Amino acid sequence: MTAFARRASGRHLPFAAGLMALALSAAGCGDSLGSGSGAGSGDAVTVGLLLPESGVYESLGKDMSCGWDLYLDEHDGKLGGKDVTVVRADEGEGPDVGVEAGNKLLTQDQVSVLVGVVHSATALAVKEAAVQRKVPFIVANAGAQDLADGSEYVWRTSFSLPHLGGSLGKHVAESVDGPVYVMAPDYTAGHETVQGFRETFEAAGGDVAGESFTPFGTTSNWQPYLSKVKASGAKALYVFYAGGEAVKFVQQYAKFGLGQSVPLYSPGFLTEGGVLAAQGQAAVGVQTSLHYSNAIDTPENAEFIEAYQAACEGAVPTAYSVQAYDAAAALDLALTEADGTDGESIARALSSVGEIPSPRGAWSFDENHNPDQVYYLREVRNEGGTLANVIVEPLTD
Ligand code: BEZ
Repeated sequence: MTAFARRASGRHLPFAAGLMALALSAAGCGDSLGSGSGAGSGDAVTVGLLLPESGVYESLGKDMSCGWDLYLDEHDGKLGGKDVTVVRADEGEGPDVGVEAGNKLLTQDQVSVLVGVVHSATALAVKEAAVQRKVPFIVANAGAQDLADGSEYVWRTSFSLPHLGGSLGKHVAESVDGPVYVMAPDYTAGHETVQGFRETFEAAGGDVAGESFTPFGTTSNWQPYLSKVKASGAKALYVFYAGGEAVKFVQQYAKFGLGQSVPLYSPGFLTEGGVLAAQGQAAVGVQTSLHYSNAIDTPENAEFIEAYQAACEGAVPTAYSVQAYDAAAALDLALTEADGTDGESIARALSSVGEIPSPRGAWSFDENHNPDQVYYLREVRNEGGTLANVIVEPLTD
């Protein structure tokens, strides 16, 4: 266990309470402490991990899986001192696969807690099923606003898309001399990000030149949309794309020749992790906002990067990795304090976890159960032959 991991699990039950919990669990009373659904035997907990193992967001799922596994490895496979069984299911590319996989984890596998989910439309449906069954759902990526609304069973370790979209509006309005075109995939995440961006961008005096929503998962040719951008006379382009779509979009944007004349802005997913290497020089100069960059210069982040690279075949951690690592950290803190391993007890304990140490910097849940956190302005630069999301400054709005 690294020193950072030890600090991350540094809050433990007061000694007397710990003994009491131990005694109750030894007496087989663990389950009787809670009243809700969800399997939990007092000293063991079953977690359903729902992540994409296929489709446009497959690489995001891989990063999240690595982050989750690293935290568990650093804590001997235990959270809150309890043995953890992880049941994995493939979220697929969208709700058609993901919702059924989530239902299987809840009903067949009877998990005590559900963690993960990348795609917002999938997450919104899974949330309903989880809340109905009183199973806590720790959303480790999907950013739709309505996911985290203060419901006692839903907690999010990632971001809210309208907030993230809004974080770049003022900067773009102040940096670009002229109207800006907006583009995103045609589903919840794309619409909410664009709406958040437009709100702060227009409030800061910016003009929108036009907008396009591209079919999610089936768009392979962006030329018709890029032609519209050119014809609109836009002086910059704001987009939301992630995973496989981010790679194709940035390559085609550069090939179309817009790279020189129409600067590109986006939430950080556009250039995060493996997609940046695949985009290559086409991504240089792209400006993004996100709550994490592996360029954050703190001892905690350096230690995390080293441990992650050792555990994940040399890969560099991404925001997705950190979100899943922090989901495990939040659950660790909650299970340390919970008076049972049933869903209701865990949900209650999640409401008082307090500050969560993290490679992004310590953070806490806000009143809606979103992370209260800083977003950074980042720029892709070629640093001695390696492409990096260099942090330019924290964004205050
Ligand atoms: C979403 O659907 O909420 C989402 C997907 C990929 C990256 C970020 C957000």
